[in-house]
Amino acid sequence: MEKSKFVIEGGNPLRGEVRVGGAKNSVLKLMAASLLTPEECLIHNAPRITDVEIMVEVLRQLGVEVTWEGSSLMINPGEFPSREAPYQLVRRMRASIIVLGPLVARWGEASVAIPGGCNIGSRKIDMHLKGLAELGAEISTEHGYVHARAPRLKGTHIILDFPSVGATENLVMAAMGAEGTTVIENAAREPEIQDLAAYLVSMGAEIGGAGSPVIEINGPCELHGTEHSVIGDRIEAGTLAVAAAVSGGEVSILGIDPGHLGLPLEKLREVGVEVEEGEDRLLVRAGEEYASVDLATLPFPGFPTDLQPQMMVLQSVARGTSVITENVFESRFMFVDELNRMGCDISIEGHHAIVRGVGALSGAEVCAPDLRAGAALVLAGLVAEGETHLLDVYHVDRGYEHLETKLSGLGAAITRVGAVEEKVLPQV
Ligand code: EPZ
Repeated sequence: MEKSKFVIEGGNPLRGEVRVGGAKNSVLKLMAASLLTPEECLIHNAPRITDVEIMVEVLRQLGVEVTWEGSSLMINPGEFPSREAPYQLVRRMRASIIVLGPLVARWGEASVAIPGGCNIGSRKIDMHLKGLAELGAEISTEHGYVHARAPRLKGTHIILDFPSVGATENLVMAAMGAEGTTVIENAAREPEIQDLAAYLVSMGAEIGGAGSPVIEINGPCELHGTEHSVIGDRIEAGTLAVAAAVSGGEVSILGIDPGHLGLPLEKLREVGVEVEEGEDRLLVRAGEEYASVDLATLPFPGFPTDLQPQMMVLQSVARGTSVITENVFESRFMFVDELNRMGCDISIEGHHAIVRGVGALSGAEVCAPDLRAGAALVLAGLVAEGETHLLDVYHVDRGYEHLETKLSGLGAAITRVGAVEEKVLPQV
């Protein structure tokens, strides 16, 4: 099947209203958490993106019944037979490792293929495994798989070296099966962690402190089925906000809690973008010209690494020079060469990108190296003079539901050429 690509003609200011989908980085974990009960779980506002389709396959591979009902997922685990997440699925989406914790909590055993690295970093899972061992699981790794056996998990006090999102989530779910109290210190505080905790509480879990650096779980938790609506995707919302700013337009972004975008909205205002906040929406109005503002990515509530590439595009058309520091992943500047082929003037010094504002970008044929870099290249195409062809858009489809439809609905000249394709996806 011919590779699909986006063809973008720059120069159209985006205007109108757009609704974001459910958060990719929450729904994948809610789907995994459903394994903790035999009863039916209904998840509303689930985005139809490739990563969710892969997680549906992972659950079905375990023997779990999963069906779509519009934008809702009906998950019926029952006494599903398998405890193994195979390599051919995990290699397509490294986040599949998130079934490890729930499998250990529910069945006392699990075998999950070790996820590979990806274009933005090595993506280790040492903190996941160390925490599981502290909870009493016997961990072994052989033939590319993690095997965990835990006839009895026991609550304990875990201190994470780093507030890892995935490690926090896996350990919260594993603690559902642990006797006694588990405390996770230096826990990640992302809104998606809070959404997972809300989901587990709705299933009958006893969890306190989600969203703070210290999470406390009283186990074991007998969990029942539930119904829940996924929070809006703050990274999609942030991406659309930058699209409005960089294209010189004015866009209402619906279905998002502005409180999930605290620092990004502050940074946009510092740059010169007008942002009004409503209860479940943002109004983003482009400024006349933009200032260069330094930023450094950090765990929440710091500036999110998943919006770093998008902000690099906005800073490329600002006046002056800014320094963007990537503190979360070790190689998240891979796409800078592609941006420079579009006329950007960015140089890399270790974890720092020096971004010199340029007058204009020029359309070119470019390749998406990963999900968020691909989205950033779309934004560059919106403002570039002439035509941009973005190849390998399957990366973008992993985390954005029909991004081209949402953007063209706002007046962008963007079309998809070639069908949406099933790809064996690199990891992000
Ligand atoms: C989640 O990845 C998100 N993915 C990422 O979004 C996001 O960038 C990241 O959190 C940070 O916010 C999903 O939720 C599916 P981490 P995760 O564990 O859980 C290192 C996107 O574009 N680390 O907080 O993998 C790790 O290598 C994606 O939507 C260890 O060293 O992030 C990384 O450098 C990209 N050992 C850093 O910590 C571990 O055991 C942050 O990783 C775990 C992590």
